[in-house]
Amino acid sequence: MPTFTTDLDLACDRLRTGELLALPTETVYGLAADARNDAAVAKVFALKGRPSSNPLIVHLAEAAQATDWAAEIPQAARRLMEAFWPGPLTLVLPARDDISRAVTAGQDSVALRVPAHPLARELLQRFGGGLVAPSANRYMSISPTSPAHVRQQFEDSDLLILDGGPCAVGLESTIAGLLPGEPPRLLREGMLTASQIETVLGEPLARGEAGELRVPGQHHRHYAPGTPTQRFQQAPSSALQDPRCAWLWCGDAQPSAGPALNLGNDPERYAQGLYAALYELDNLGLDRLLIQNPPEGEAWAAVHDRLARASRPLD
Ligand code: TXA
Ligand code: MG
Repeated sequence: MPTFTTDLDLACDRLRTGELLALPTETVYGLAADARNDAAVAKVFALKGRPSSNPLIVHLAEAAQATDWAAEIPQAARRLMEAFWPGPLTLVLPARDDISRAVTAGQDSVALRVPAHPLARELLQRFGGGLVAPSANRYMSISPTSPAHVRQQFEDSDLLILDGGPCAVGLESTIAGLLPGEPPRLLREGMLTASQIETVLGEPLARGEAGELRVPGQHHRHYAPGTPTQRFQQAPSSALQDPRCAWLWCGDAQPSAGPALNLGNDPERYAQGLYAALYELDNLGLDRLLIQNPPEGEAWAAVHDRLARASRPLD
């Protein structure tokens, strides 16, 4: 059974001895290990059940440490670090030759991020080095944004969970690729929007994968609840009368026979609550989960991206 702690010395000792730690960040909880210890990194892949072809993000206490991992830091990357670190932005940069290809899944690029959660920052400062930290969920399931949901993912392990309360952002970081000779590229949507990044860069972001920039983790349908999940524009009236159908609304909810949650129509609050709501509704073990499509617009882009992976369209 996993245990909770707020003891940073204990958490740091675990990492130093090559053990895993569930780490709160402002986006989602991560499954952290010493990024310089290949045996510890292997435990991350094993516990998550994640294919070794899917690279990990290295988390750092501060931007100055980026040169320990990246072979080159383009001017554009420096500007983004200054503007958004610590915060929910991951940068993919050319990897140094001396870093483990277990972390980068054999690629010659490395993903770096300086998280903003106070406990993550304090722990990274004490630890001193880089920590790999994929989202603390089993492969293909929903990222946890609370300590209880991390425990649910790894119930039969003795994982230590650093309790930092609920995550403030609630969706995984935005990922931007900045490789020499390539235009800056948006690789994963997050609550830090493309426009915010473009404003700092002074140029548009390219989209999708190209050349050296591949994001193996984005190929899969994941973040999915176990309950069959669909998203809708028009609520089907038969489902509204079905007590074994659960609902997730974003504002104008309709009365339903089954249980319902309403995350409202503010994109930040919706994102913050989304994964916890999916856990809660999925845990009811009903026949169906129906999600009302949120509004369009850039502020909702990351929410739509995650909902498209978690559900199928109904109408
Ligand atoms: O917010 C976050 O980023 C959270 C918290 C814990 O920091 N972490 C997270 O890690 O979402 P993970 O492993 O669940 O997702 C990382 C994504 C994967 O899709 C992976 O393929 C991609 O980043 N990635 C990692 N290294 C990469 C690289 N060198 N090039 C391209 N994509 C990379
Ligand atoms: Mg993940």
